[in-house]
This record gives sequence, C-alpha cells and structure tokens, in this order.
Amino acid sequence: MNSILKTKKIIKHFDGVKAVDGLSVEIEKGKITGLIGPNGSGKTTLMNLLTGMFPFDGGFVAVDGVSGIKKIRSYDIPAFGITRTFQDVRLFEQMTVLDNILVVLTERNIVSALFERHKKIHHEKAKEVLERVGLWEKKNELAINLSYGQRKLLEIARALAMNSEIYFFDEPFAGLFPEMVKLVSGIIKELRTHGKTVVLIEHDMGLIRELCDYVFVMESGKLLAEGEPEKVLKNKDVIEAYLGE
Ligand SMILES: Nc1ncnc2c1ncn2[C@@H]1O[C@H](COP(=O)(O)OP(=O)(O)O)[C@@H](O)[C@H]1O
Ligand SMILES: [Mg+2]
Repeated sequence: MNSILKTKKIIKHFDGVKAVDGLSVEIEKGKITGLIGPNGSGKTTLMNLLTGMFPFDGGFVAVDGVSGIKKIRSYDIPAFGITRTFQDVRLFEQMTVLDNILVVLTERNIVSALFERHKKIHHEKAKEVLERVGLWEKKNELAINLSYGQRKLLEIARALAMNSEIYFFDEPFAGLFPEMVKLVSGIIKELRTHGKTVVLIEHDMGLIRELCDYVFVMESGKLLAEGEPEKVLKNKDVIEAYLGE
C-alpha cells in the first residue's frame, strides 16, 4: 500500500475522556478514505490530530516525505500540504466571499502578494474555485450573509484554493440540499482524479459507498473495523454500533 499518512497507536485524552485511544490507521495516497462511527466516537478529534490542531498524548503521526514516510511533530503538519474544512464551518464572517479566498492565497506569500502580477494570479485562482462551487456571483457578499449551504461551499472553495496534497472534510454534506450534495461529491471525486488524497467524515452510508475506496470505523476512540465500504458496512459489529445495541 502506498500510504501518504499514517498513525501508530495515537492517543488523545480530554480530562479522562479517551477521545482517541491508541489508534493505528494508514491513509492511502490518491484515494478517498472514509472515517465513520457514532457521534462522539472520536472522528473529529482524529482529524484534529492529523491536521496539527493540537498535540497528541501518545503514539505518532507519519507523513510521506521526500525520503519516504517519516515521523513528524504536530506543529510541522501544515508544512506537508494538508488542508481541511470544519464540522462547524469557520469563515472570516465580516469579509466578502472573494476576500475569504484571497486571504488564504495571499497569507501564504505576503510579500509577493504586493506585486500586481501575483495579485492577478490570485484573483484568477479565486475566480476558478468560486465558479467551481457556484459562488462567483456572490463574490461581493459578506460571508455572514450566506445561507448555511453556501457557507459550506465557500469553506470547500477555500480548501481547494490551497492546492494541497491531502484534503480533510469533516461532514461536508451535512445540511446540504441534494443539488449541493451532488456538487460536493463531484468535487471530491475530481480531487481523486487529480491524484489528491481525501479523508472524509460522513454519516450518510450511501455517500460513503459511492465515494470511498476504504473506510475506517471508529467507536469510543478505537478502531472497530476497516476495509472496503461494501464489506465493512455488512460487518455485524459495525451495524450494531450504529443501531446503538
Ligand atoms: N476540545 C475538547 N475538549 C474536551 N472534550 C472533547 C474535545 N473534543 C472532543 N472531546 C470529546 O471527545 C470525544 C470525541 O469527540 P469527537 O472527536 O468530536 O467525536 P465525533 O467527531 O466522532 O462525533 C467526545 O466525548 C467529546 O466530548
Ligand atoms: Mg465530529
């Protein structure tokens, strides 16, 4: 397996709550990996650890580097081309839609952003990603004035603007109308077509079946099952975990 990211017995505790409890996962490069499990099973926490939001209490994360997989510290993770969206959408509320994109493009290269040529390149990139999610006409609206679905799409556009190697999406479909679900699943498939790696937290098993090449099932911070969606979703333990039995 050509893994781009892996964890070995990674642990995160919050005051006695074992949110992630000795988890070992391997994420395959260029594939869509699903992360499923009941509420509170530790999916978002695992994503937080993998994207360097906070340090872990044990184990390690390794990222594919120039000289193969290597161990990294949490604060190094952003340097490895990892981008994410949040379960609770996070935007610059008082900025326009366009500026929400431009700010991530320019913050990566503040000095060059001062030059006209770079400004033009950034603007073209922003237009490209906003058109992709159907928000170009809304470019001058403040983020705070968008609908819930549009806000999720803007966050996805911002992730796309980062042009990363690995994209993490935490429940990107939650609360979206069917048309938007189609749009977002198209974007996720397109990322895979372009050789990008996607990690997806999602509750809709239809979408997991449709999109994912491989799935990890979490329960109480531990791994309950893993494998191809068709097989995993037939697993008795997995079915019971979802029915709460
Ligand atoms: N920042 C935090 N502080 C304290 N407890 C947390 C924090 N984040 C998550 N938890 C706890 O860790 C467990 C796993 O949460 P989470 O990773 O959000 O689960 P999931 O995304 O699978 O619903 C829950 O019991 C949750 O209350
Ligand atoms: Mg969550």
